[in-house]
Amino acid sequence: MGREIMKTHDVVFSNRPITTAAKEFLYGGKDVAFAPLGEYWRQMRRVCVIDLLSLKRVQSFEFVREEEIANMVNKINQACLMKSDVNLTDLISVITNNIISRVALGRSLEGKSEGAKLTKEVMEHFGVFSVGDMFPSLGWIDELTGLKKRMRKTSTAMHRFLDEVVEEHLISKKEGAQADRKDLVDLLLEAEKDPTLGVEFTRQNLRAVIMDMFVAGTDTTYTTLEWAMSELANLPVVMKKVQEEVRQVIGKTTKVNESDTSKMNYFNCVIKETLRMHPALVLSLPRVSTSSTNIQGYQIPDKTRVIVNLWAICRDPQVWDKPNEFIPERFMNNSIDFRGKDFEFIPFGAGRRGCPGLTFGLMSVEAILANLLYWFDWELNSGAEKIDMTEAFGLSVNLEKPLRLVPKAHLF
Ligand code: HEM
Repeated sequence: MGREIMKTHDVVFSNRPITTAAKEFLYGGKDVAFAPLGEYWRQMRRVCVIDLLSLKRVQSFEFVREEEIANMVNKINQACLMKSDVNLTDLISVITNNIISRVALGRSLEGKSEGAKLTKEVMEHFGVFSVGDMFPSLGWIDELTGLKKRMRKTSTAMHRFLDEVVEEHLISKKEGAQADRKDLVDLLLEAEKDPTLGVEFTRQNLRAVIMDMFVAGTDTTYTTLEWAMSELANLPVVMKKVQEEVRQVIGKTTKVNESDTSKMNYFNCVIKETLRMHPALVLSLPRVSTSSTNIQGYQIPDKTRVIVNLWAICRDPQVWDKPNEFIPERFMNNSIDFRGKDFEFIPFGAGRRGCPGLTFGLMSVEAILANLLYWFDWELNSGAEKIDMTEAFGLSVNLEKPLRLVPKAHLF
C-alpha cells in the first residue's frame, strides 16, 4: 500500500493537508514541506535540495560538523574527569540544533536563549494534537483550549526573530563570501531577487522555508542518534562489536574523518537497524489526494487524507524476522536500503515528497555517532539495569526520559 501511495499513484497523493500548525507557522504552506504540489514547491525544493541539501553542499559543511563535534567531545571529556554521567539527549539535541542553525542562519543558537527556546516551542507545536486537524468542523475547540492562541504567540515571536536574522544578513551582505560558505538565508535572499525564479517569493516564504529546515531537520536527526545510543547501551555485545570496528577503521588519531564511516560495514548496519526500529517520524507527513483513485480495489475519493505508517512497515513480521529485536546483522550482505526504493524500509518516506534532507541528516548522524563510539566507552548509571525505552509522544518519537549514560575516555 505504501508503494501504491508513494510510487504508483504518487502524483495523486503528493499534496499535503494544511494542518493548524502549518497555517500558523508556515502561512498555510508557503514553505516546502506543506506547499501544494506545483511550480512554487518544485522551485523551492530545487533551491533547498541543490543549494543546501545536495551531497556536494552537505560535504562542504563538514567544518561546521567538526567544530560542533569538537565542542561536544570536550563537554563529555569534562564529565569523564568529574566521573559524572551526561545527559546525552541534551548534548545530541544541542549539537544537531547548532549544526542546522549554523548552516541555515549562519549562526549557532546555543546560548542565544531566545532563538533556541523559540525553535523548541515551534517543534513542540508541530507535534501537538489539534482537534481541528482530525475533525475540521470541531476546529473551534482549538480556540477554546487556547491552542491557537499559544501557537500565534510563538509564531509571532519566531517570525520577529527570523526577521532580525535576515536584517543581519542584509547589513553584513556577504557578497565576497565563498559560494560554498553561504548559508540558507543568503541563498533564499538571492532567490528573492532572482527574476528567473518564475514564482512569487516573499519574506513570508523565506521565513517559512527556514522554519521547515529546523522542524524537519533537527528532531529527526537527534532522535535517530538518541535511539542508536540507547539500543547500544542496552546491548553490550553489539556496542563492543561496533566500537571495535569504528576504532579499527579510524586507527590512532586526533581527529575522526567523516570519510572513514563509509568503510565501516557493521556501523552502517547499526544505523540502518536504528532507522528500521525507530524511524524518527513513525507516521509519514500526511498527504491528501487530488483526485478520486482506485487502489487495490478500494475507491479513494478526492481530498482523502493518507498517512503511511512507517513504523508498522519497518516492523512488519511478514517481512522482518524478529522485528522487535535490534539485530544489525540482518543488514549484512543485504542490499536493502532506506532511499525510497525498498518499500519495506522507508524511514525517509519515498517518491516526490520523500525526504530531501536524507544526506544532510545521515551525514550528521554518522559523524556524531562515530565520534561518540570512538572516543568514549559508555556505561549505564550504577544501579540501572537497562535504559527505559518508553517512547514519548510527539512529531518525532524520542525517549520519554532523557538518556543518561556514564562516559569513560577510551585509552588507546
Ligand atoms: C534522520 C533524519 C531524517 C529522517 C528520518 C527524515 C524523515 C522524513 C520523512 C519520513 C519525511 C516525509 C516523507 C513523505 O511524506 O514521504 C520527511 C520529509 C521532509 N524532510 Fe526529512 N528526515 C530527516 C532529516 C531531514 C533533514 C536534516 C532535513 C533538512 C535539513 C529534512 C527536511 C525535510 C523536508 C523539507 C521534508 C518535506 C519534503 C516535501 O514535502 O517535499 N529532513 N523527512
